[in-house]
Amino acid sequence: MSALLAHDDAGRGTPLLLVHGFPHDRALWAPQRRPLARRARLIIPDLRGFGASAALGPPPTTLEGHADDLARLLDAVGVDRAVVGGLSMGGYIAFAFWRRHRARVRALLLADTRAGADSEEGKAKRREMIQLARTAGPGAVADAMMPGMIGKTTRANRPETEREMRAICARAPADGIVAALEAMIARADSAPTLATIDVPTLIVVGTEDALTPPKESEAMHARIAGSRLERIPRAGHASNFERPAAFNHIVSEFLTAV
Ligand code: MLT
Repeated sequence: MSALLAHDDAGRGTPLLLVHGFPHDRALWAPQRRPLARRARLIIPDLRGFGASAALGPPPTTLEGHADDLARLLDAVGVDRAVVGGLSMGGYIAFAFWRRHRARVRALLLADTRAGADSEEGKAKRREMIQLARTAGPGAVADAMMPGMIGKTTRANRPETEREMRAICARAPADGIVAALEAMIARADSAPTLATIDVPTLIVVGTEDALTPPKESEAMHARIAGSRLERIPRAGHASNFERPAAFNHIVSEFLTAV
């Protein structure tokens, strides 16, 4: 049992749990806070190992550990069922949460993520990144991640957005980075999970997402019955951060529908 995750709890309405990706913290969701808090009760944690939750002690080395942290957070804030949303690694955690705590899931929001496990090549790259984190530190990891983290249009037109995203990634603690990479290496293939999902599901992807490209979202959409797929043009992997107005509009409509 661990202490409660640091989190924001803002707004009223349907509870919406927003889970950040790698190597982020809850600042990933800053562009959603005010607009979506008009329609939902937003619960936005720092995963253990990241942001203010880094102070809670050793981070989990499995995505299931993160999922269980999130269930405890919902208990602590008195939320029985929430719309569970995650971007990228947050989506991998949302799948683990679904498998372990599905009675707590009112609907799913899967943003710029994929169902499949890592290939052997992908695992080898993550092991290299573990070495990079240990030897060169979080700034070097942020530099290695940035080419895939945002899309080419953002890179060309909105350098301040690129800078803000790099700053978020660069402040991730090395221990959190290493543990999250180990958890992603070890993660289960969530493809068989897709057919078990029977709650409303919104899948969102930036058309310029190079890390979890639109074809991954299309594959999830094909296998999650009744799911909705929305593509955000001129956005990359951090679609919520790059084109917040478009993202928030899509999510607001979904919240109204659920
Ligand atoms: C993320 O944004 O969470 C990561 O890019 C996920 C990954 O590396 O698979």
